[in-house]
Amino acid sequence: MIGTDVSVAARLLSEGEVVAIPTETVYGLAANALNPEAIAKIYSVKNRPTFNPLILHVKSIDEAKKYVKNFNTTAQCLAEKFWPGPLSILLQKNNLVPDVVTAGLPNVVLRVPKNTKSLELLNALNFPLAAPSANISNTVSPTSAQRVEQNLGNRIPYILDGGPAEVGLESTIVSLLNDEVVILREGGITKEELEEVLGMTVTYSSSKEISSPGQLKKHYATHKPLYIVKDLEKALQDFKNKKVSALLFTENDSLDCFNTYQLSRNNNLSEAANNLFEMMNRADEDDSDVILVEEAKNTGIGRAINDRLRRASID
Ligand code: TXA
Ligand code: MG
Repeated sequence: MIGTDVSVAARLLSEGEVVAIPTETVYGLAANALNPEAIAKIYSVKNRPTFNPLILHVKSIDEAKKYVKNFNTTAQCLAEKFWPGPLSILLQKNNLVPDVVTAGLPNVVLRVPKNTKSLELLNALNFPLAAPSANISNTVSPTSAQRVEQNLGNRIPYILDGGPAEVGLESTIVSLLNDEVVILREGGITKEELEEVLGMTVTYSSSKEISSPGQLKKHYATHKPLYIVKDLEKALQDFKNKKVSALLFTENDSLDCFNTYQLSRNNNLSEAANNLFEMMNRADEDDSDVILVEEAKNTGIGRAINDRLRRASID
């Protein structure tokens, strides 16, 4: 059921239920992070492998400090600048965080979400919320309450509606272990923004190990094939026997395809990020055979868009 009542969500969560919550990135599937039985429900509702850890959502910087061993100066600096907002920070956890939240790992990822309803909710609770994206594992993350309803409506008691997600892509995850800043997942905050605030170089994780299963290759998948192409007009020749839905970063009236979806009309990358998952869903639901898309310009949030496209695509 979809509703806007924070007290209903708070009551259900206090009773150990799972509730979908709005955030500025994507909708999350939340449960009491300090209650292992409630956490187990998240994994089963999402069909999520139990080795894939969850993000801890807290209401404030002070609250974040309760759950980690060392909230270092880099963490303080980033949190002051970007929280509430789409940045998640990996630090060493302490014993208050149940092992099921981190899938047994010694580190925990934390963030303060920006959506007003979620902050109201967190303020009404005396525990933090563990919340992955509110989709069945390996499908596109939901950016509206209606998409959550479609995905999980019959599996969860309540969806707190906080309007459409403002950013539309998941948070950026940075590891702050070992005095380094390493991006584990690209997202709402760009490398450039992090470097500017910190005055130091930030790197991308080069680890082939899966330190963040969001790094798993196939993820965010549509049901029908999605191909990233170099040149859409040329590719349409190759696909002329197929009904093609194209996702576009700019206006183009001359394309000969079944359907077009505007991620943006003028190559505005924030707008494209915001529309990406919804347009992927729409293209997936129409009567086309395949989805084609060119890469975004590989800068700023364009990198996060390309990351999600690659994980959704067939190559
Ligand atoms: O924007 C977001 O981050 C959304 C909203 C709901 O907050 N949440 C989200 O959660 O995207 P999820 O579970 O779909 O993706 C979190 C990613 C996963 O790839 C997970 O493996 C990684 O973060 N992660 C979480 N805790 C981790 C840990 N302790 N160590 C390494 N990776 C971790
Ligand atoms: Mg997810």
